Amino acid sequence: MPAVLEISGLEKTYRSRRRGARKALDGFDMVVESGEVHGFLGPNGSGKTTTLRTLLGLIAPNGGRMTLLGQEVPAALPQVAGRVGAIVESPQFFPNFSAHDTLSLLAEAGGVQKQRVTEVLELVGLRDRATERVRTYSLGMKQRLAVASALLKKPDLLILDEPANGLDPGGIREMRTLMRGLAEAGMTVLLSSHILGEVQLICDSVTIISRGRRVAYGAVAEVLAQHAGGGVTVRLESAEDLSVAAEILIAAGARVTPDHDRLVVSNVEKPAWVTRTLAERGYYVSELAPVKVDLESVFLELTQTAPVAGQARQVDDSAVAPAQGGWGV
Ligand SMILES: Nc1ncnc2c1ncn2[C@@H]1O[C@H](COP(=O)(O)OP(=O)(O)O)[C@@H](O)[C@H]1O
Ligand SMILES: [Mg+2]
Repeated sequence: MPAVLEISGLEKTYRSRRRGARKALDGFDMVVESGEVHGFLGPNGSGKTTTLRTLLGLIAPNGGRMTLLGQEVPAALPQVAGRVGAIVESPQFFPNFSAHDTLSLLAEAGGVQKQRVTEVLELVGLRDRATERVRTYSLGMKQRLAVASALLKKPDLLILDEPANGLDPGGIREMRTLMRGLAEAGMTVLLSSHILGEVQLICDSVTIISRGRRVAYGAVAEVLAQHAGGGVTVRLESAEDLSVAAEILIAAGARVTPDHDRLVVSNVEKPAWVTRTLAERGYYVSELAPVKVDLESVFLELTQTAPVAGQARQVDDSAVAPAQGGWGV
């Protein structure tokens, strides 16, 4: 089966009179396979929204190739658009309409059967509140209404840009359950986020973007394995020998960080190399363990974002740029 979405070498440079050229995508690649929940992860300003808008024909790229459901886009967008549901800009709803009215209106406009409205309300868990006005809804409920609107036409691929943005933990949990359910029903879901924790638990696979380039991708477990870097922690029979052992390993090309009664050794191909290198010089390893990595630390390392006090996550490398609203597209 061909990939549901394939992007290669995508380039996008924004030009504005005030700030000149800004390269938002710099040869970006991405592949999303059928039936998976794919996380599109990267800090603010890394190029996620630009990618999704380009994919949906909302802005023109400067280079690269894209396919959706096996067809070249933007050329084939008219043919595939009916099979792709997307929420890239946060949608605005009439506050005085109920969810049911809103969806009925959209269904009618899109030539979708009335019965589908009831189905999507059920799917996103809004059935019981469907006749209440949208202005009484929480942000989470509004987001789910947005998802419901994207589901009306029973898409094969659902694209959501930062669906968890601004949601409280309860809202995020609901969103997660919803995405999981959709994937189980056979839909492919692509969702972006700048906060890893939001999506880590529901994704089968991820693409990590940093400064307009893909820096890691694959099944979550694979990404972790690739970026564990073969790092190991090492204890010696005698803790007094640690500093000499560190020197030996560094001289042999490893990266070594002392940590209390052990050494954290990276940049080695195989753990056995550590044992052998030290044994050859008469130092014996008493304990050797792989360094545990989680996706969070991989994400931080790859995107070079560090935690900032009082903030869930840094960072916008365009922090000095004016607010996006002032640019126009
Ligand atoms: N309309 C625009 N005009 C000029 N620059 C833009 C515009 N939209 C985004 N950018 C810049 O492009 C880069 C990528 O932005 P964006 O795709 O919105 O990232 P993300 O969605 O990952 O936060 C950022 O540096 C941003 O400031
Ligand atoms: Mg964005």
